[in-house]
Amino acid sequence: MAVHAKSLTNIRSAWPARRREAEALESASPMAERIGLDPTLERAIDARSSRLPGFYRRARAERSLAVARWAGLSADEAALLDGALTSARAEGMIENVVGTFGLPLGIATNFRINGRDVLVPMAVEEPSVVAAASFGALLARAGGGFTATSSEPVMIGQVQVLDLPDGDLAAAAGRLVAARDGILAVAHAQSTSLPRLGGGAKDLTVRQLPDTPVGPMLVVHLHYDTRDAMGANAVNTACEAIAPLVEAVSGGRVLLRILSNLSTERTARAECRVPADALARDGADGRVVARRIVEANALAVVDPWRAATHNKGVMNGVDPVVIATGNDWRAGEAGAHAYAARDGQYRALTTWRQDEHGDLLGTLELPLAVGTVGGGTQAHPAAATVLRILGVSGARELAEVAVSVGLAQNLSALRALVCEGIQDGHMTLHARQVALAAGATGDAVARVAEQIVAEGRIRVERARELVAGGGRASG
Ligand code: MEV
Repeated sequence: MAVHAKSLTNIRSAWPARRREAEALESASPMAERIGLDPTLERAIDARSSRLPGFYRRARAERSLAVARWAGLSADEAALLDGALTSARAEGMIENVVGTFGLPLGIATNFRINGRDVLVPMAVEEPSVVAAASFGALLARAGGGFTATSSEPVMIGQVQVLDLPDGDLAAAAGRLVAARDGILAVAHAQSTSLPRLGGGAKDLTVRQLPDTPVGPMLVVHLHYDTRDAMGANAVNTACEAIAPLVEAVSGGRVLLRILSNLSTERTARAECRVPADALARDGADGRVVARRIVEANALAVVDPWRAATHNKGVMNGVDPVVIATGNDWRAGEAGAHAYAARDGQYRALTTWRQDEHGDLLGTLELPLAVGTVGGGTQAHPAAATVLRILGVSGARELAEVAVSVGLAQNLSALRALVCEGIQDGHMTLHARQVALAAGATGDAVARVAEQIVAEGRIRVERARELVAGGGRASG
């Protein structure tokens, strides 16, 4: 199948940044009015398969067209993927705006999540992350892909209570629990839309903290279902609204009224099985590679120094999805790392083990508060298109995708680390950045990068020499 002249015209007019590429493709086409996508891409699009062999080798314009076709984007929607966040728009998002700051947006391929193929847009500056996610997804695909689940989207809001009468925490906690229904009613009444959708205040619990640096205190946890919103505003509003009643009932003084980013009630979990044969590499038996991955994970289970790096690799997958959908990635980071230390020691967020056949089984569980409505998902013009590409039904499915990408990323990193090492692939991609920094453009980027890798001299000075010499070796 081909992209017709009409859609090209749309893209040219609605997608100025793509215009030259579309024209270049058009003129390269033997038929003036049609662009042919690579037949393999055509077949994948028709089959709605995320397995897009050679996608990374296609010209950027062809990749963009393929994704637009795959996701059924209009030209206007597709146009929003490239630099649509203007300064004027940004002015409405934060304070003191002087410009905008872009990030590369790549598409991770090969993902199958709960039986559905997904193309995953990832906004990230680090080379090799998108490639690694795609590779991890390919390995998991050999075992059927990812199975992901998520809890109801229940956030926790905290209300801190100090100066309790006679310092009697238990008595004040008892009074608050007895007043639960009245407090929940006040919290619930703060939103009209969320209760209509089945969300709103769901529960209230009270924790006693007898031993803090300033003496005893209580913290009330308001469990609040935010449906498809990340929900920070709704939760904070509800916490502030119940504060006077909490003071009256407890007899104490309320200080903080704010959501917790350790959203232990709002978690997402992914698991996958990688057949050992899929892990075989350079003569190494796949069972041996699987065993090494289990051993590598074990270090991150017991050692915080390794766990931090291991979990950073997990978040290499999660964050770019959270960012590309306009969500708050600092919230995700804070929650993930606090969760990693929930038993008192900071540990790996993943588990990896081998089954009786030597196949590799992995899991990742995270607290993950992401939304598909409200906040940055609506403020950032690209986020809606990213959500369309993902094709998720709501916040829970988005969290399920993000946690699957985190597991894929970790799988790919561990496989590389226990085999050839991370630098092999990393340096090739890093070399492209060095070539760009040295002023290479167009085809010269790949040529210069290949050359400096082959020479083992991945340095800007050497790349500059090559750029000056037309991108070819000069000694
Ligand atoms: C680099 O961004 C991420 C890794 O360090 C993760 C890991 O070590 O597991 C490769």
